Amino acid sequence: MRRKKKKALVIYYTKTGHTETAAEAVARGLESGKAEVTVRELLSVDPEELREYSIIAVGSPTRGGKPARKVKKFLKGLGKKSLKGKQASVFSAYAGFRGRKTLKRMRKLLKRKKAKVGPRGVAVKAGAPLSLWKGPDLREKDIKRLEELGKALAKKAR
Ligand SMILES: Cc1cc2nc3c(=O)[nH]c(=O)nc-3n(C[C@H](O)[C@H](O)[C@H](O)COP(=O)(O)O)c2cc1C
Repeated sequence: MRRKKKKALVIYYTKTGHTETAAEAVARGLESGKAEVTVRELLSVDPEELREYSIIAVGSPTRGGKPARKVKKFLKGLGKKSLKGKQASVFSAYAGFRGRKTLKRMRKLLKRKKAKVGPRGVAVKAGAPLSLWKGPDLREKDIKRLEELGKALAKKAR
């Protein structure tokens, strides 16, 4: 019998587009792991919608060694146990420093809302530091890492 596909939501915030590129790669990976995927810009997501999904991936640019303020606000604003039972992971675009620290912070925020966090996430180097100039794009090998992340996340949720 064919198993029903798990529903996955990839949420991202971006200013210069790199985290969006990353989100699309994570989504491709989730699809290859047999999840049904929706990709949405964070500001357009109503927290109530999260109920429908069993897999959540959240992406943010690294800003001052942390997730973007809007991402923190979104995650902090979710209901106490709103991610209970959901498999979750994180990703970040950063220009050169503290990308992994951003991931750690996001994992912590997801755990607070009772998500099952894993895999640990992927930080990819792209963009310019401290500026809104777009800077260099993601590298092909990092796109692959993000696709692998999506696939591994879908597998964990089975
Ligand atoms: C206000 C601001 C703060 C930033 N802080 C950092 C930082 O702490 N570490 C870093 O590596 N990059 C930092 N960056 C660079 C971005 O993380 C990088 O350009 C990223 O690719 C942007 O993602 P986006 O295209 O999705 O907006 C900062 C950029 C801005 C605008």
